[in-house]
Amino acid sequence: MKTQVGIIGAGPAGLVLAHLLARAGIESIVLEMHPRQYIEERVRAGVLEQGTVDLLNELGLGDRMMRQGLMHYGIELRFAGRGHRIDFADLTGGKGVMVYAQHEVIKDLVAARLAAGAEIVFEAKEVRVDKIESEKPAIRFTKDGVTQEMECDFIAGCDGFHGVCREAIPNGILQVYDRNYPFGWLGILAEAQPASHELIYSHHERGFALMSMRSPKISRLYLQCEPDEDLNQWPDARIWEELQKRFSTSDGFSLTEGPVIQKGVTGMRSFVVEPMQFGQMFLAGDSAHIVPPTGAKGLNLAVADVRVLAAGLKEFYASGKRDLLDRYSEICLRRIWKVQRFSWWMTSLLHKFSSDNEFDRRRQLAELDYVTSSRASSATLAENYVGLPFD
Ligand code: FAD
Ligand code: DHB
Repeated sequence: MKTQVGIIGAGPAGLVLAHLLARAGIESIVLEMHPRQYIEERVRAGVLEQGTVDLLNELGLGDRMMRQGLMHYGIELRFAGRGHRIDFADLTGGKGVMVYAQHEVIKDLVAARLAAGAEIVFEAKEVRVDKIESEKPAIRFTKDGVTQEMECDFIAGCDGFHGVCREAIPNGILQVYDRNYPFGWLGILAEAQPASHELIYSHHERGFALMSMRSPKISRLYLQCEPDEDLNQWPDARIWEELQKRFSTSDGFSLTEGPVIQKGVTGMRSFVVEPMQFGQMFLAGDSAHIVPPTGAKGLNLAVADVRVLAAGLKEFYASGKRDLLDRYSEICLRRIWKVQRFSWWMTSLLHKFSSDNEFDRRRQLAELDYVTSSRASSATLAENYVGLPFD
């Protein structure tokens, strides 16, 4: 097998990259370890920045998203028993975010790629990268018990945090920067009408909670929990009871309850490796960085990386120049660190830390009061949430 760019991983990074390359006339093959159905059903993120929405539309991949997604022009920050709206449209010159599930994006990207006759190898096992420092790197994998080798010009490591690409970079090259948080999120999907038209981020003395949605009939809710929380300790009734407490207001707000159709616990960490490239291999998305989910940035950052990578590859194939490719890491990391900062800030602002004392809690409340009463501070939150501009 031979291709120009071998892409490992059919997540948002790998699939958007494949589409960007196809638009530029560059051939690629995507290798994915899981079956198609698995990646199309895995419940994950749900908020797309304005720039991600615009890119999917530009690529002709946004039809279903525009029909079924929910465009939001604000969020609510709730604390001390009251809600405060941050008006994105007013603060950012009309920008917003799209609430549309990650696995729906994946379905759209997979369907369009297969319809165009391009390749995704599902259930590619034992994927290994080889000769990444040479002009002709290779990817070895097993499909249906048969070992195959794919020769390419470049490898895109879009294989997520637990992938093989980052690990294949020799010791001593990568610098790791990370931080773990002493909590996780317990997330549910419920057949319940969202109790508000917009997302609610709630600061509460019992811990953080978030109300999001997937449709006018399906709610997506999260509550701060222990990083290794045992789901067996959380029957549905206990989850609803805890959520009701954390969203309660002085004027009697109540969530609409309904059957819980999915639940899971996600740990939280901040993580970055530098550089994000070695030889002919480039890391993109979660393989190079993780953000805590509070800012809703993971998917969007993955898409931002591959925009830069696709532009670099396009320049290389058009002119033989490597200037942009050589600066891939440097260009991506400028955005990544700003997004890390924002995600850390949202997390620190809204969660209960086990080490908190009353001083810290009052400081958080003062900051929330400031964010929701100062136009300058609201605008800072809004411009980061809808997505920073691209260079
Ligand atoms: P991924 O989506 O992880 O895609 C990587 C792909 O590579 C996967 O399909 C994987 O199967 C494949 N792969 C891995 N190893 C190999 C291999 N060796 N060979 C072949 N294929 C391989 N972000 C938010 O903003 N909000 C959220 O609520 C949120 N919830 C999350 C919940 C969970 C459980 C997780 C894990 C992440 C969540 N995220 C959330 C983060 C967000 O989903 C990710 O940032 C986003 O998926 C990153 O896209 P990616 O393409 O870089 O990686
Ligand atoms: C969702 C997830 C997030 O991490 C977030 O900050 C907002 C919404 C969601 O899954 O809908």
